[in-house]
Amino acid sequence: MVLHPDSSTSADTGQASGRFDVEAMREQFPILTVRPYGKPLAYLDSAATSQKPQAVIDAMSPFFSRDNANVHRGVHYLSERATEAYEGARVKAQGFLNASEVEEIVFTSGTTGAINLVAETYGAAHLGEGDEVLITEMEHHSNIVPWQMLCERTGAQLRVAPISDTGELLVDELKALIGERTKLVAITHVSNVLGTVNPIREVTEIAHAAGARVLVDGAQAAPHLPIDVQALGCDFYALSGHKMYGPTGIGVLYGRRELLEEMPPYQGGGDMILSVSFEKTVYNNAPYKFEAGTPNLVGVVGLGVAIDFLTGLDREALAAHEHDLLAYGTEALLLVPGLRLVGTAPAKQSILSFVLDGVHPHDIGTILDREGVAIRTGHHCAQPLLSRLGLSATARASLACYSTRAEIDALVAGLETVQEAFG
Ligand code: ALA
Repeated sequence: MVLHPDSSTSADTGQASGRFDVEAMREQFPILTVRPYGKPLAYLDSAATSQKPQAVIDAMSPFFSRDNANVHRGVHYLSERATEAYEGARVKAQGFLNASEVEEIVFTSGTTGAINLVAETYGAAHLGEGDEVLITEMEHHSNIVPWQMLCERTGAQLRVAPISDTGELLVDELKALIGERTKLVAITHVSNVLGTVNPIREVTEIAHAAGARVLVDGAQAAPHLPIDVQALGCDFYALSGHKMYGPTGIGVLYGRRELLEEMPPYQGGGDMILSVSFEKTVYNNAPYKFEAGTPNLVGVVGLGVAIDFLTGLDREALAAHEHDLLAYGTEALLLVPGLRLVGTAPAKQSILSFVLDGVHPHDIGTILDREGVAIRTGHHCAQPLLSRLGLSATARASLACYSTRAEIDALVAGLETVQEAFG
C-alpha cells in the first residue's frame, strides 16, 4: 500500500512548510544518493546515527591538512590555530545549549561518555549507602548501566519511575519516588524507542524541590529540539555529535559551573592538571579537569560545524517538517494490517517503533533492507523498556531533517512485501 501514489515525484517529497525545502536539504547529504541493491535509499535509521552534511565532511579533512597540532600545549602557529578551532567549538556548543558559561561545556566521547563521567565523579562523591538514583523505565542502557555500576560500588539504590502503556512518563509516580535519599534523577529528554518527549522542566522542579540533581540524556533530543539548559533547569545535559549530523566519537556534557568545579576529576593525565609532583597533583579547573589526554580534535571541529549546520536552519520550519512526517508516518503505518505502533505519547518526536503480527522485527528489517529501506530492529539498547512493554524487539523507523514522505511510502510498500513473504 502506498498512501500517496504520486509522492515519489519531486513535487511531493514531504515539504511540510513553504520555508522548508527538503530536496535542497537532501542535496547537502551525499550519502543519500547511494542505491542499495539498485533501489533508492530510504534511510530511516537516523536515531542510530544521522547522516552527515557536506559541510561537516568538508571540515574534517582540511583540519588535518591546514590546522593540525596539539591543543593547549604549543606556542607555535599551528597549535594556536588548533586551539582556536577547539575552543571555538566549545563556544558554539555553549550557544547551542544556551549554557550561561563556556566553562560549563565538557567535550566527551559521546552521551555514554558524559553519563559515565557524571556517575564516576559527581556520583562517586555524593552517593553512599542508602542514597538513591532515580531513572525511568524508558532509559537507554547508557542511562541505566552507569548508575547500576555506581550503586554496586557505593551501596546506593536504583529506583525506576514507571511509564504508561502508551509510553508516557507517569510524573505523579516519579514524584512519589523522590525522597530525601534521592540524590540524582537521570532521565532521557526523548526516548530512542518510543519517541516520547519528557517534561524535563517539570521533572527538574520536582527533583530540585527535594534537593536532588538532574541529569538529562539529550542524545535523541539534540537533533530535533532547540535545547536551553537554563530554561530546562537541569544540572547536567549529555549529547552525542553523531546523532546531530556530526562525527562519531565526540559529544558534550553540560554541567552547572559550581557542580563541575567541586566534582573530582574523571581520568588522570595530561591537560587536566595545573601542576604535578610525585607528592601531589593540583587539578586544572573545569572543563579541562575532565578532558585528560589529547582530545578528539577533528571530532570537535566536525561537531562545531554540525552545530553551525543545525543552528543555521529555520528551526521552526524543521520542527514543522519533522512533525508532518511523524503524523504522515503514523497515519500510514496504522493502515497496515496487523501493525501496532509502540509508543503513542501525545508529546512525541521523530520515532516510529512498531511490531507486526506474526513477523519477527529482524525479518522485517532484513526484507526491508532488500527494498532499500534502512530501519533498526531489536531492543534498541533499552531491554528493560522492551520487557516492560512485554516485547523483546521492535522495528523502528526514525526521521531526520532529510527524511521524506516518499521514504515513508517506501517503508509501507516494503511492509507489504514482508506480509506477502509471510503469507
Ligand atoms: N542509541 C542508538 C539507537 O537508538 C544507537 O539506535
